[in-house]
Amino acid sequence: SSNEQVKTDIVTLTRFLTEEQAKHKEATGDFTLLFHALQFSFKSIAYWIRRASLANLSGLAGSSNTTGDDQKKLDVIGNDIFIASMRGSGRVRMVVSEEEEEAIIFDEHPNARYAVACDPIDGSSNLDAGVSVGTIFGIFKLPDRCVGPGKKVTKNDLLMPGTELLAAGFTMYGASAQLVITMKGGNVNGFTMDVALGEFILTHPDMKIPKKRAIYSVNEGNSLYWEDNTKKYFESLKYPAEESGKPYSGRYIGSMVADAYRTLLYGGIFAYPADKKSPKGKLRILYECAPMAMVFENAGGQAVDGKMARMLEVQPEHIHDRSGIFLGSYDEVQKVIEAHK
Ligand code: AHG
Ligand code: MN
Ligand code: MN
Ligand code: MN
Repeated sequence: SSNEQVKTDIVTLTRFLTEEQAKHKEATGDFTLLFHALQFSFKSIAYWIRRASLANLSGLAGSSNTTGDDQKKLDVIGNDIFIASMRGSGRVRMVVSEEEEEAIIFDEHPNARYAVACDPIDGSSNLDAGVSVGTIFGIFKLPDRCVGPGKKVTKNDLLMPGTELLAAGFTMYGASAQLVITMKGGNVNGFTMDVALGEFILTHPDMKIPKKRAIYSVNEGNSLYWEDNTKKYFESLKYPAEESGKPYSGRYIGSMVADAYRTLLYGGIFAYPADKKSPKGKLRILYECAPMAMVFENAGGQAVDGKMARMLEVQPEHIHDRSGIFLGSYDEVQKVIEAHK
C-alpha cells in the first residue's frame, strides 16, 4: 500500500480565513476578501518566479528603485501583480511597495479601510542563482479620517509602528511555496502550496520558534563596518569563552525570507545590523522589519533594533525608512541585548 495517507480533512487557506472571520462577529468580510487577493498574488508571483529562466524574465529590468536597488524584471512584475490584485480586491485604499517611490492610492475605492505595505520580491539579488526568494506583507487599518468619499489619504498616514499591524506574513518560493501568516494578538500558521490543487494547505499550525539554537545568520562581509558591540557579540558566538561550550554554526542565504523561515523553524538569531556603511541598516521598516517582527513575536521569539528597542515599536520617519534588526529565538535575542548593554 502507498505510504501516503489520503488525508480528507484538509484545511486550505480559504477555509482557514473563513474560520478566522467567524471569530469576529463584527467582521464585514472585507479583510477576508483582501486576503483572497493576497493569496492570488502569491500564486501568481510563484508561477512567474518558477518560469523566469524559461520565459526570459531573469536579469535586470534596467531601472533602480527609490532605495537604490537595481530592479530585477521579476521585482517589477511582482510589484505590478501585487498592486493589481490589491486594487482589484476593492478593499485596499493604499499600497506602499519597495518598488514604488510614492504610495499607490486607489481613489476609486474611497470607502476601503486597509493599507498594505509590501516587498514584492525579497532577496531578488539571489533570483538568477535560483535561490529562494519571497514576498513580505503587512496589513494596516487606516484611521477613520482617511476613509470615505472626499477623505484624503497620503503616504504619511502609513507611518505607524508595527504594533498597529492587523496582520503580517511572508511567502518563500523555495522547493515548495510556503506561506507564513499571523494576525494581531494571534498565533503563527504556515501553509504549503499544493500546485496540483492550486491551494495553500495548512501544514504548520501554531508555529513556535525554539527558545534557543546555536545558529547565527548575518553577512560577515560587513564586519569591517560593524560597531564595536556588534563585533563583540558575534565574536562571543564564534569564539565562546571555554565554559559556554561550542561555537555557533553560521547560516546565511541572503534572502531575508529564507533566513527568517529557517530561523523560525530551527531557531537561532538573524541580524542585519546598522553599521558605519549603513547607519540606519539596510532592511526597510514598513515592509521587512515590522512584518517579520510581528511573526517572530507571535511565534514566541523577539525582534529588536540596533538600540535594543522593541522592533514593533519603532516609528518609521518615511515609508522607505530603514532600521538595524536582530530577530530570532527569545533567548538568542536576550543574549544580543545583554551584549549590547
Ligand atoms: P530585497 O531583495 O527585497 O531588496 O531585500 C534584500 C535584503 C534581504 O532579503 C536580505 O536579508 C538582505 O537584503 C541581504 O543583504 P546583503 O546582500 O547586503 O547581505
Ligand atoms: Mn530590493
Ligand atoms: Mn526585501
Ligand atoms: Mn524586494
